[in-house]
Amino acid sequence: MREMMTQTLQQLGDMSIDRNDPQGRGAADHDAPTRPGPAPLRIGPVVVDPPILQAPMAGFTNYAYRQVVRDFGGAGLQATEMVHARGFLEIDHRRSEYPERLWGVEDEPRPLAVQIWDNDPIALADVGARLAHELKVSVVDINFGCPVKQVTERAKSGSYLLKCPDRVGEIVERVSKACAPTPVTAKIRLGCTRDNITAPQIARIVEEAGAAALTVHGRTAQDYFRGEADWEQIARLKEQLKRIPLIGNGDIDTPEKVVNAFNNWGVDGVMIARAALAKPWLFRQAAAALVGEEIPPDLTLSEQRELLMKHYRLVLERFGEQKGTILMRKFACCYAQGKAGAREFRTHVAGISTAAEFYHVVERYFPKETLAA
Ligand SMILES: Cc1cc2nc3c(=O)[nH]c(=O)nc-3n(C[C@H](O)[C@H](O)[C@H](O)COP(=O)(O)O)c2cc1C
Repeated sequence: MREMMTQTLQQLGDMSIDRNDPQGRGAADHDAPTRPGPAPLRIGPVVVDPPILQAPMAGFTNYAYRQVVRDFGGAGLQATEMVHARGFLEIDHRRSEYPERLWGVEDEPRPLAVQIWDNDPIALADVGARLAHELKVSVVDINFGCPVKQVTERAKSGSYLLKCPDRVGEIVERVSKACAPTPVTAKIRLGCTRDNITAPQIARIVEEAGAAALTVHGRTAQDYFRGEADWEQIARLKEQLKRIPLIGNGDIDTPEKVVNAFNNWGVDGVMIARAALAKPWLFRQAAAALVGEEIPPDLTLSEQRELLMKHYRLVLERFGEQKGTILMRKFACCYAQGKAGAREFRTHVAGISTAAEFYHVVERYFPKETLAA
């Protein structure tokens, strides 16, 4: 296990952005026809192999988390947190710098998707163009799924737009033209409410407007995260799409569920969000399952401890001790999920703000395993 991890880390250490192929398109060439498992996912010219995507998650999928996931392998495409288009333009105008949420994007390996949100087609197209041509990201994804009130009610964006199909079309068309040849994708929910499922109509519009892929979270905005994701509704969208791939998302938390999503629901790609906060190695396990290989075991407690410390170091380097420790609280709680004493751990972690306190809590809940003599 440790050897596998070291090997992956070494391979990744050798990786850097190929400036002649910043979008990672070259991967198309080593597509063996007889390979088991689903075909690699093609998002325009970008090959997503394996066809398993790390979801955008505001407050979580920053550079440090993406690096942790990248080191394990298995995620064919990773995404940033969502970035507000007009916020981007304002920061750029005032301070000539990129928003905090673009930490790492300039230099990290591709393929990489950046997600943007807003309801203004011009601002979205401006920012999309900057991401595509200046930062040379692989994919520009547009958020039409966020159910948070600040985004929907206050900013009339995210999932609010699922009831404004014309606006969705205009946004996708403008952003796609501005970003070309970099592909643009859309991430949606099934609709605003269960009695107003607009995803089929939105799917057609998104495709006609020039998007290169559609991701669907199988809940409505009203559901928030309640109930179960409706994979039947996700699968039905396949009929609406003539040219572009469908990526399914919602409640995938085991390698078996990833395999099932391809086999039973006919999606072209699977996106994982929350489960991979607790297990960033889930992508590697799912990738093995997809090609019929033995699924690597979960990390031992000692390995998780090392991972937690590595994640913390990445956060500290960027944010310093106090801000970094406070930011790390929520990641540490994710790693503790499902373990004995997780509730007590959360209570302890909630009060820490120094490195010494962080190490103490880790020491207590993720003890080093002693090797048998
Ligand atoms: C904390 C958190 C933040 C999220 N932020 C975003 C976001 O910025 N953009 C987005 O499209 N979806 C966001 N989502 C939704 C996820 O990408 C995903 O669609 C959803 O969690 C369902 O997938 P899952 O069941 O694998 O978690 C977020 C979800 C969570 C839990």
